[in-house]
Amino acid sequence: MSKHKMSVISFNKSEITRLLKSFVEEVPHFYESIREHPVTPPDLLQRIAALVEGPLNEHGLGIRNATTALKETILPGLAYTAGPRAFPWVIGGVTPAALIGALYQILYDQINMVSGASIGPQLEKETIKLLLDLFNLPRTTFDGIFTTGATASNICALAIARQWCGQAYGFDIADEGVDAMPAVQIYSATPHASIAKALSILGIGRKNLILVPTLQDREAIDILALENALTQSTRKAKIVVASAGTVNSGDFDDIAKMRTLCDRYNAWLHVDAAFGLFAACSDDHKTLLNGIEGADSITVDGHKWLNVSYDCGMLFVKTAHKQHQVATFSSVSNYMSLAADEPMNKGLENSRALRALPVWLALKAYGHQGYQELVKDNCAFANVAAELIADTGLYELLAPVRLNIVLFKGKCIDSVEENNQLLAEINKTGKIFITSTIWAGKPALRIAVCNWQTSIELDLGILEEALTVGMERYYNKECA
Ligand SMILES: Cc1ncc(COP(=O)(O)O)c(C=O)c1O
Repeated sequence: MSKHKMSVISFNKSEITRLLKSFVEEVPHFYESIREHPVTPPDLLQRIAALVEGPLNEHGLGIRNATTALKETILPGLAYTAGPRAFPWVIGGVTPAALIGALYQILYDQINMVSGASIGPQLEKETIKLLLDLFNLPRTTFDGIFTTGATASNICALAIARQWCGQAYGFDIADEGVDAMPAVQIYSATPHASIAKALSILGIGRKNLILVPTLQDREAIDILALENALTQSTRKAKIVVASAGTVNSGDFDDIAKMRTLCDRYNAWLHVDAAFGLFAACSDDHKTLLNGIEGADSITVDGHKWLNVSYDCGMLFVKTAHKQHQVATFSSVSNYMSLAADEPMNKGLENSRALRALPVWLALKAYGHQGYQELVKDNCAFANVAAELIADTGLYELLAPVRLNIVLFKGKCIDSVEENNQLLAEINKTGKIFITSTIWAGKPALRIAVCNWQTSIELDLGILEEALTVGMERYYNKECA
């Protein structure tokens, strides 16, 4: 038997240097050429079809050959959604600082679970404080954790709120389970789909989401209707979920008034501000968040408007609720720390990435001003885009632009099928990537602007062109 058996997985300095150099050279080119690429791969279906892998090869190809295969078969099938004209759902695009941070995050590959091995848990705490500063939230009353995104943050928030509700009945739900008490009820007007998902996961059940009417032609909650619903509840404690930025139209609930009702009817106030919390960075928009400092918990995403890479979210929780948070998430075993302040005892995962690292770097690099400019520019883009869309005569606006979302529809496009065809023609131009929705029971289109590269000067004309060409092609096909 050989004494010096070569491992398949090994460190070959010259090879890794060559591969990394080539990667580093690609990065500036990636940024510089991002506007030229179709936003989504034009041959996506063929690429998917070609990606039929046989069984795993017995012997590895080696990093160099595997990387060549990656470049030839995988990378061309990826989307340029990190670029300036990707406007679907609500997405961001990694900034240069966040990219550097993410690379270091991976290189050091920290397990940010408990303290004692590295500065990681402290970095996470400090970064949460910087984020609280960014959003003008008091450091003294909020603590926070990093999550994989707003969905995970909403799940965690509702888990903690559920624990708080149990207290009103003298039950420790973490120990006794949800069956120990009457079903927890959640009140919300236009909750993001992840709220219902959270209720399913948490055993509360989607049926216990009580949808409260909205104001006329709005997605914002009707406060009188909320009060009416809360009055009728027989529960000793309840949960109210406010939306600070709805996906469809970027609408905001009146958080301050909701807080007053939550106090009156003993309800936990969770604010889903996945992207809307960034309104705090804009003098013109920050009043949309009035009263948010009164929330019990707040969800915000990192991979949306903070423009750090996927996946990254944050949850802020009032420090006064620490006991409910730790009761919910503490992971008891002999070989781990039970200390209340350990990251793993405050959120979903035990083993967890040091997501704070790229966020810290981005916040340090760009400061308050960087994000103020980003939000201001994106909101300005959305406003000008809305005017331009209306001026084409081909489309009509369905809601005012409240922050960074434009909701509109093609004139005379009334069925879901027509809307999907139009959407496909628009996206096929490769110039932009947008998504559809349903608004007031009718199909619609939407644009969400959240990317640091999006520019009125460079991208607005191309957006107009894509919408016009998309409509022309739709009608040519219709008439053909
Ligand atoms: C208001 C709101 N909440 C939650 C989510 C879910 O976020 P994620 O997909 O990052 O988990 C989104 C995503 O668009 C959102 O806009």
